[in-house]
Amino acid sequence: MRQESAIGKFARHKAEGASHTREEYERKFVAREQSRQHGNAGPISYTRYMNMGYWKDGAQTVDEAGEALVRLVAEVGEFSSGERLLDVGCGLAEQDFFWIGHFGVDRITAIDINPDVIEIASERAEKFGLSERLELQLASAVKLPFSSNAFDKVASVEAAFQFLTREDFFREAYRVLRPGGRLVTADLIAMPGRKVSDPRVNSLNMYSRDIYAEKLSQIGFTNISISSIREQVIKPFTQFRERHETSGGLRALLIRYLRRYHTSRLDYIVATAEKPLG
Ligand SMILES: C[S@@+](CC[C@H](N)C(=O)[O-])C[C@H]1O[C@@H](n2cnc3c(N)ncnc32)[C@H](O)[C@@H]1O
Repeated sequence: MRQESAIGKFARHKAEGASHTREEYERKFVAREQSRQHGNAGPISYTRYMNMGYWKDGAQTVDEAGEALVRLVAEVGEFSSGERLLDVGCGLAEQDFFWIGHFGVDRITAIDINPDVIEIASERAEKFGLSERLELQLASAVKLPFSSNAFDKVASVEAAFQFLTREDFFREAYRVLRPGGRLVTADLIAMPGRKVSDPRVNSLNMYSRDIYAEKLSQIGFTNISISSIREQVIKPFTQFRERHETSGGLRALLIRYLRRYHTSRLDYIVATAEKPLG
């Protein structure tokens, strides 16, 4: 069978994006994800992060950068022992093992929409003897199967840009957080004034920082803080990836060009917001 070109793929995803029910969108998303390798595993990595990482303070590898990103998320989210944490879009749950090990978080519930990653993450939790502290569930970010006020913290690392929609997730996060609880995200959005047509992101979620803050505020969140870490994420990750790419030729050049074009329009943020007490 002939391989679909990068441009063909782009056109197909763009056309698919427009008129979907949530179920259809998520089914297609999962089918696409299942055909890929999960996480940064392989010769260049020993952890299973599925994010771009935070390339600050001399990070040299995707392992160090992945760890630095989830450390930053935990610091911004003020994670500590005795808390009930919900991790949304957990992937292979590498960050959950880290938060339990380094921030003493007692209990984490982690969800993802892809059954493959939930299965692998569950096997890993068992292998590390952490099944009691880390509960993994198949669920969608926009329809959380939890009662209201159930968590102290909700975290989502490099996942909310894929949800249909991020705003629906914000609403659900607000509902399941206890009053005084905190949401923290690492997320991809649009640079101010830029239109994003990247097939790897959901275009409905591509707005800038000020709109991100406005949406959180409209839902009821307060003490909203959003920082761009784009310079420490997107560029260094792209450079690292290009250094380790083995494929060459015209096709590889075209993919590289398209990738650079799309990423020049993206911002990468760490955001936090609180559900008010009263
Ligand atoms: C880029 S990966 C990041 C995984 C992990 N947080 C990490 O940093 O390694 C994004 C994850 O979000 C999940 N995801 C996408 N849409 C979702 C949804 N609607 N509900 C739950 N998870 C979703 C994907 O299946 C994927 O595992």
